[in-house]
Amino acid sequence: MIEIKTSDAEAFLSTEALEKSQGEAKKALEMVRQKSGTGSEWLGWRDLLAEPNDALLEEIGSLAAAIRKDADILIVCGIGGSYLGARAVIEALEPISQKSPAVIYAGNNLSGAALERLIQKISAISSDKSHPSVYLNVISKSGTTIEPALSFRVLRRWMEDTYGADEAARRIICTTSVDGGALNQVIDAYGYKKFIIPDDVGGRFSVLTPVGLLPIAVAGVDIRALFYGAVTQYEEFEKNPEVLLTYAAMRKALYDSDYTLDIIATFEPELSSFGGWLQQLYGESEGKSNKGIYPAVHTYSTDLHSLGQMVQDGERNMFETFISVKSGFTKLTIPEDQDNYDGLNYVAGENYHEINQKALKGTRQAHIDGHVPVIDIELDHLDEEHIGRLIYLFELTTAVYVYTLDLNPFNQPGVEAYKKAMYKLLGKPGA
Ligand code: PA5
Repeated sequence: MIEIKTSDAEAFLSTEALEKSQGEAKKALEMVRQKSGTGSEWLGWRDLLAEPNDALLEEIGSLAAAIRKDADILIVCGIGGSYLGARAVIEALEPISQKSPAVIYAGNNLSGAALERLIQKISAISSDKSHPSVYLNVISKSGTTIEPALSFRVLRRWMEDTYGADEAARRIICTTSVDGGALNQVIDAYGYKKFIIPDDVGGRFSVLTPVGLLPIAVAGVDIRALFYGAVTQYEEFEKNPEVLLTYAAMRKALYDSDYTLDIIATFEPELSSFGGWLQQLYGESEGKSNKGIYPAVHTYSTDLHSLGQMVQDGERNMFETFISVKSGFTKLTIPEDQDNYDGLNYVAGENYHEINQKALKGTRQAHIDGHVPVIDIELDHLDEEHIGRLIYLFELTTAVYVYTLDLNPFNQPGVEAYKKAMYKLLGKPGA
């Protein structure tokens, strides 16, 4: 189960602000359900859960199993919504007890040095004089985004030089739209295996399509349990959306009351990349027409030693969303030390998770005392089911909350501006 608590944010708001936003959230949820809002042609991420495609889960699962047997490394080449979801889930759930291929990421920047380092890594010869066994999953819905497209060109050349054209073709898997885009032309020409990104699912809502599911399965995560966790949350919210409405309304009331910075905070480093996925989901969906709350990810207690001062005592325009896990997933305890030179015997015998939980409790209280409204999102466990639930919870919150701002949650017109300027400088024909 996932619990959402808003009482420590509510205390900072007026009853009028809350009542107004609750009405807006209800209306917005109906727009999502009736597909009557702007951008409703991109609500396919809900349909996927209403009618699960078990055959697709099987197909992805069996390809992933074959790759897992043979691969040392899977390169995931994509940017934005085409890789953040996979990374979020893999870093949260990757089993440490199994031998899994290392998943590494390319195509999410334009740094030649970073790509060169990656190539050095995959070219490393081990003591038995062999290369690591490398597979490549290139993911781009448009098939034209320059960051993954350039990296793919370079990595495809490396794959062909290393394995020969036929074997390289077997090791390259593409995830893209049904048709159109330059990537589809490459796929047709070289016969690469292809998974489809449904037209009605936008990049940042696509983690539960092959975009996220293939790399996640290769990493050894149970994608069926993940997917069905989201299905369960979908079904629960269809029956009773009260908690979701309260959370979406709370974000809107905070925004209306000039809280314009949402610190997505976790005490679990495993969830940092999940914060990165959420940062994109919120940021790209609501940052339009000079509106929107800026989402910032903080991993505690690390960032308490860099940004904690700012949160405690800086400008009072921020609220905090803590994502926490109730049950511990570590057995590590603090040993008793006979000499106790470090003076730490007062925590001897304590489990690390308990210490971390107390740090969370203390931090949220200190921040509330420093006038930071706090929202808590608590997972019972860190497992596939809960991460699946969490994905849908945030997707639906995004759609509902962004509709309350009178915006289209599913487009990203602002992203084109940098591309236009860059393409002009690069001399792209027609730019
Ligand atoms: O959410 C989005 O739509 C974007 O973040 C895209 O996922 C990102 O720009 C990558 O686009 P593409 O998959 O077309 O390469």
